Amino acid sequence: MELVFATNNAHKLEEVRQILGDRFKVLSLNDINCHEDIPETADTFQGNALQKARYVKEHYGYDCFADDTGLEVTALNGAPGVHSARYAGNHDSEANMTKLLAELKEKTDRSAQFRTVIALLLNGQEVLFEGIVKGTIATERHYGDGGFGYDPLFIPEGYTETFSQMTSESKNLISHRGRAVRKLADYLKKL
Ligand code: IMP
Repeated sequence: MELVFATNNAHKLEEVRQILGDRFKVLSLNDINCHEDIPETADTFQGNALQKARYVKEHYGYDCFADDTGLEVTALNGAPGVHSARYAGNHDSEANMTKLLAELKEKTDRSAQFRTVIALLLNGQEVLFEGIVKGTIATERHYGDGGFGYDPLFIPEGYTETFSQMTSESKNLISHRGRAVRKLADYLKKL
């Protein structure tokens, strides 16, 4: 089965292809010659994931899936949420982390979660999958060999290391995206 994943992020593509296995041919946006920025203007993860998937279906005709992810911090009423990538500017992880640490300076509750929503458009049906990982925001950055975004600050529940300090295999086993992708895979494999 051929499906488009509405991304050009090589890391996400690799992870999804690995989990879905050989039965599914996962095409990227580059593969279908979609080079424009797909609008992401909703105020929920679900809304953005659906918006991207519907865009691909409407303009390119492919069955497809799209994801949207963000960090939700309890003491900040769910911020940065859908604005995670641009919290302090434009896709600048260092600036985003600096802003997050400043916002949490006076707060005692440092709990947070990463959430991924995947929207699948297949055979005229829309199906949503969600993956969540709960954890806490460290008081300073802890870098390791891996990760990106807010990973140097995020300590998953039950662990003492940040996502950055874990191997990508260990992170994928418990991460928001890993969980959502495995739900998608379980659904597709039953078809
Ligand atoms: P996207 O929807 O997957 O592009 O994620 C939006 C933003 O959330 C990214 O730009 C990162 O700042 C953050 N983010 C998403 N997934 C992760 C993760 O696994 N670790 C750290 N930050 C993440």
